[in-house]
Amino acid sequence: MNTSNSVNKPKILVARAIFPEVISLLEQHFDVESNQADHIFSAAELLQKLQDKDGVIATSSEAIPAALLQACPRLKAVCNQAVGYNNIDVAAATKAGIMVTNTPDVLNETTADFGWALLMATARRITESEHWLRAGHWKQWRFDSFLGADVHGATLGVIGMGRIGQAIARRSIGFDMQVIYHNRSRLAPDLEARANNARFVSKEELLRQADHVVLVLPYSKESHHTIAAQELAMMKPSATLVNLARGGIVDDVALIAALRDRKIAAAGLDVFENEPALHPDFLALSNVVLTPHIASASEPTRRAMAACAANNLLAALLPGKDGELPPNLLNPEVKG
Ligand code: GLV
Repeated sequence: MNTSNSVNKPKILVARAIFPEVISLLEQHFDVESNQADHIFSAAELLQKLQDKDGVIATSSEAIPAALLQACPRLKAVCNQAVGYNNIDVAAATKAGIMVTNTPDVLNETTADFGWALLMATARRITESEHWLRAGHWKQWRFDSFLGADVHGATLGVIGMGRIGQAIARRSIGFDMQVIYHNRSRLAPDLEARANNARFVSKEELLRQADHVVLVLPYSKESHHTIAAQELAMMKPSATLVNLARGGIVDDVALIAALRDRKIAAAGLDVFENEPALHPDFLALSNVVLTPHIASASEPTRRAMAACAANNLLAALLPGKDGELPPNLLNPEVKG
């Protein structure tokens, strides 16, 4: 649907449904093609829609590969409404002179809250016991029903100690936990101190020592299957695993086997390989908490992410007289 009739404004596509006030804001500056029906575009449809567009607001459900970027002659900016951007070939965008932006920071605390919700639900068997109750099985209270793992006083292992990982670690102070972490590089001492005196360890040490392992690292070729059968075998049989990051960081088939054979106690998963078509065997397991990729989905945070993506697009396509770069430009080399 073309919602603006202006001739000279840059043309943009908003690829998924978004808050109406963001469409209104964008329409003040751009000729906007929106998708409030929230139809999922096929690769061919996206290619066709981007032929005459200067910019696009995308989400992590739109794949933006090199072939697409090279085939859209007018495209100057791809603004992702997510902190992760593994759906976009940034190197190809840079080569094609296209700016790429994401929405960092605005979602750190909300995502960290959700990491804790998932960790607590997993360790204390909240969804499993609720399903059992709803199914009418609760005939009498038992002293040993749904025994779970303690969170307080336990060792928290964070793999990927960026801003969200640090926010998760900070919350563990109230639970009197020890924090160990693994990351591409060690944090500065003041950041480690704020993150509940987190101790930098190897991935192997983390997997062997942690009672609760939380994954918050970005997805890339290098982080593909960071947790596979070999890693799951290193974990304690009483341990829980929480994946808040991206599908593909965990080998889901190996995780299903580990959960089924009780090689680890339980998992809490917000992201999956090939989502939303997650592996059907997850559904048959009682020791896994499953959520549909909603870690940043609080009302204020989703509004903030949408506003952040819109501001990035405004700065990319309509720079001020000083030519400021979009605030969250991932490939500044594109501007020379
Ligand atoms: C959500 O998954 C994000 O990357 O923001």
